Amino acid sequence: MKAPITVSVTGAAGQIGYALLFRIASGALFGPDQPVNLRLIEIEPALPTLEGVVMELDDCAFPLLREIVPTADLNEGFRGTNWALLVGSVPRKAGMERGDLLGINGKIFTGQGQAIAKNAASDVRTLVVGNPCNTNALICASNADGVPKDRFFAMTRLDENRAKSQLAKKSGAHHSEVTNLCIWGNHSATQYPDFTNAKINGKPATEVISDHEWLKGEFITTVQQRGAAIIKARGASSAASAANAAIDTVVSLVNPTPAGDWHSVAIYSDGSHYGIEKGIMASMPIRTVTNGTWEVVDGVPVDAFSQGKIDATINELLEEREAVQNLIPA
Ligand code: NAD
Ligand code: LMR
Repeated sequence: MKAPITVSVTGAAGQIGYALLFRIASGALFGPDQPVNLRLIEIEPALPTLEGVVMELDDCAFPLLREIVPTADLNEGFRGTNWALLVGSVPRKAGMERGDLLGINGKIFTGQGQAIAKNAASDVRTLVVGNPCNTNALICASNADGVPKDRFFAMTRLDENRAKSQLAKKSGAHHSEVTNLCIWGNHSATQYPDFTNAKINGKPATEVISDHEWLKGEFITTVQQRGAAIIKARGASSAASAANAAIDTVVSLVNPTPAGDWHSVAIYSDGSHYGIEKGIMASMPIRTVTNGTWEVVDGVPVDAFSQGKIDATINELLEEREAVQNLIPA
């Protein structure tokens, strides 16, 4: 029997938490022979609800699930963790942009970064889901002294999945046949879902879909505004699809990426790829080499149209960073 992998989840009593925990416990992250421990972190007032979630996890009798630790103590919550999934934070309401949450949520990630640095396993990797996830991840990474910056990620996989689904619907292909779809920049209304390099059944999406006005217009705005459309329709922000994207992100980071393809996740920019400034968490095309090593896929063509879109979303990330300078140690 393999040693268990410990996964910490913040906001574990929230709606994404409810859609995420049962899948982790059933083996969706690391496969059918890998036991997991769950360390579930909530704020004090949500602990009674979390207790109910723990009762349900118990009642599933998952063969792979070992220990469950519900807690409001960050040190306990991140102790020995291999994967920290930072979901806990306030979601936006109709009419807000995700960046409007920075003042409310940003400060959560200073203490969490410090607690990860102090308590987590030496191989810890952190995925931030709570919005605005790119800049929250930057705050977290900046406060996690001693943890390499390449272990921090912010989630843009939901956007990638949404974009693939839209291209599949438009072309009549199945979404599994859409590849090479990169989300550039911020998980926000400025993100750029790059159709210029996407492929459908191995062919350029721009050849398969002749309606280029749609690609340059409605396709992009549909993906950019999908979160808001879900909030409007459901009265609450996306949860099951967000949990699913978090699982897809981890799966894509622990398994080698299929040859020629890439996946989207925001990483700490070191300033050496695509002219993107150092020190922001920006989504770009990523290839996982082995479990624990990944690289930016360089050389993806960026035409003038794409460059304009990438510049806009990177500028927004720079502005967000400026707004949280007080949460980022020098
Ligand atoms: P929710 O309100 O249902 O749950 C959030 C939970 O976080 C609550 O249970 C709350 O008690 C908890 N929480 C708040 N502050 C905390 C803290 N300091 N430590 C630990 N837990 C804390 O919200 P949700 O629908 O689960 O969404 C969570 C976050 O994920 C939101 O910020 C939302 O905008 C974001 N989100 C991101 C994506 C993405 O693609 N990156 C997609 C969907 C949602
Ligand atoms: C999403 O994209 O669905 C989430 O980021 C929630 C939101 O606020 O849009």
